[in-house]
Amino acid sequence: MQLRNVSADDVDAYIRMRCDPVMMADLGGPLPRAGMADKVRRDARQAAADLAWLKMIIPDPDVPDLVAGTVTLWSHDGDSGPVSEIGWMVLPEFQGQGLAKRAVRTLLEQARDQDRWGVVHAFPATGNAASNGICRSVGFRFVSEVDVTFAGRVLRTRHWAITPRTDLR
Ligand SMILES: CC(C)(COP(=O)(O)OP(=O)(O)OC[C@H]1O[C@@H](n2cnc3c(N)ncnc32)[C@H](O)[C@@H]1OP(=O)(O)O)[C@@H](O)C(=O)NCCC(=O)NCCS
Repeated sequence: MQLRNVSADDVDAYIRMRCDPVMMADLGGPLPRAGMADKVRRDARQAAADLAWLKMIIPDPDVPDLVAGTVTLWSHDGDSGPVSEIGWMVLPEFQGQGLAKRAVRTLLEQARDQDRWGVVHAFPATGNAASNGICRSVGFRFVSEVDVTFAGRVLRTRHWAITPRTDLR
């Protein structure tokens, strides 16, 4: 498994992840296809400028165009200052192989090694057993249940937090 920056050519993978009702069931439902090419271009620019870590999960390094999913670490404004957040998705044909967990751990190892991002937060939907399992087994601590707004929709989530320097398992 390898991680590489998202590029403007990853539109198909974005559409298969973000515009699919099953993939988006715990994320408020599918997003419209119309905005996806622009979204990928914006994300590719952000990744190239190292403003956020927007990574594609590549199961076989010899086939860099074959994408299994994404893992993303970025900063946004919270109520009391900037918040670092990580999120992830793995396409159905690649699920259940431990890829999401390895990708999340790999990105948090980079955060630890570069001493960047501080405390990292994750907000999986309360019913998303796999994602909550990833948080638990990678070393996040459970904070509380919270409602969060994602793409304009309110979701009930479990808030987890990790300090990669000390907590990563
Ligand atoms: C959630 C998702 C990322 C899991 O990806 P994955 O690569 O299949 O996950 P992994 O194989 O790394 O498994 C992670 C853990 O969850 C467990 N798990 C996997 N699928 C599960 C399921 N359906 N129910 C319960 N546990 C599950 C695994 O056993 C593993 O736990 P372990 O470490 O104790 O063995 C993937 O299903 C997905 O992208 N779903 C749609 C989008 C989404 O919900 N994204 C997350 C939003 S927070």
